Amino acid sequence: VRVDGRPTRTIWPADDGRAVEIIDQTRLPHVFATRRLSTLADAADAIRSMQVRGAPLIGVTAAYGIWLQALEDAGDAALAAARAALLATRPTAVDLRHALDAMAEALRGVPPGERAARARARAGELADEDIAACRAIGEHGAPLLEALHAQSGRAVQVLTHCNAGWLATVDWGTALAPIYLAHDRGTPVHVWVDETRPRNQGAALTAWELLEHGVPHTVVADNAGGHLMQRGRVDLVLVGSDRTTARGDVCNKIGTLQKALAAREYRVPFHVALPASTIDWTLEDGAQIPIEERSGDELRRVSGRTPGGELATVEILPAGSAVANPAFDVTPAHLVTGLVTERGRCAASREGLLSLYPERAAQGS
Ligand code: MRU
Repeated sequence: VRVDGRPTRTIWPADDGRAVEIIDQTRLPHVFATRRLSTLADAADAIRSMQVRGAPLIGVTAAYGIWLQALEDAGDAALAAARAALLATRPTAVDLRHALDAMAEALRGVPPGERAARARARAGELADEDIAACRAIGEHGAPLLEALHAQSGRAVQVLTHCNAGWLATVDWGTALAPIYLAHDRGTPVHVWVDETRPRNQGAALTAWELLEHGVPHTVVADNAGGHLMQRGRVDLVLVGSDRTTARGDVCNKIGTLQKALAAREYRVPFHVALPASTIDWTLEDGAQIPIEERSGDELRRVSGRTPGGELATVEILPAGSAVANPAFDVTPAHLVTGLVTERGRCAASREGLLSLYPERAAQGS
């Protein structure tokens, strides 16, 4: 994508070859700032604090974290500790484990003195593979929007939840990739953007992305989706995923399930866009996916910009109230109309996924 007219990724190696640069997403939409990650600890902190977030981007950042560790100490013990530290940052998105597995595989049998160079190359490949996958998701998903436009003759009304745009990946995004592509090809699209409490990734990130790209959109409170669907104001729900099981259960940002339930009631197609890195072939039942429980402070406090232009955080709860903050939920496969992957579209089922990834059937899981 372009930010202020300049081609921009969410993560890139620094010019001096000693670090990676990221966009600090905790400061958007008010401040566009980058951060330099020079150590494994920096990479782990950026993921944990959600300066980088979104399943694919978490994975690529972790891959670069292994490279940063290898620059310091590329011994077996140091790399094993780095893997454990990165795996512990966020539990739900399986892309993290897959990226770390890919790095371990790339470094297997490589002499310690050559590991840093190999790690940097493999992390770069993973970043490029993510871009290619997301671009392909766009190609396979855009026809969904184009067909809806052809049917109605008016702007396609898409509802999305959280941020599954380019900020959640290295570029393009997953759920937003078909929207960007359809928009760029001339299909009129309007996006209902769920604000996505408590961290407001929809209001802060998806709205910012869509604005930068010139895609018409409207931010709505998370609770508005059912009403909009009931009134026939949503043609399609399109969301991303943090982990999709082998039978097509979809884990995504908390609140996704409610949108799927409303979509089923009002017969609105509910599609999920994801690259292969998000599929957990070792799990069938989405109930087995670990759901991240985040700090209650995310509900207690709201951050934003004051009318005077300063950034501020305020408390919104009575001090004595208990708070629970599960960050993800699982939408069972039967509520999902279809999956959009880099290899094409399929039913949210074991058969559907295996039709696109037949090599998984041969491997057993
Ligand atoms: O907690 P986050 O912001 O990392 O959650 C992100 C999401 O839930 C996205 O929808 C998901 O990672 C898919 S993004 C391509």
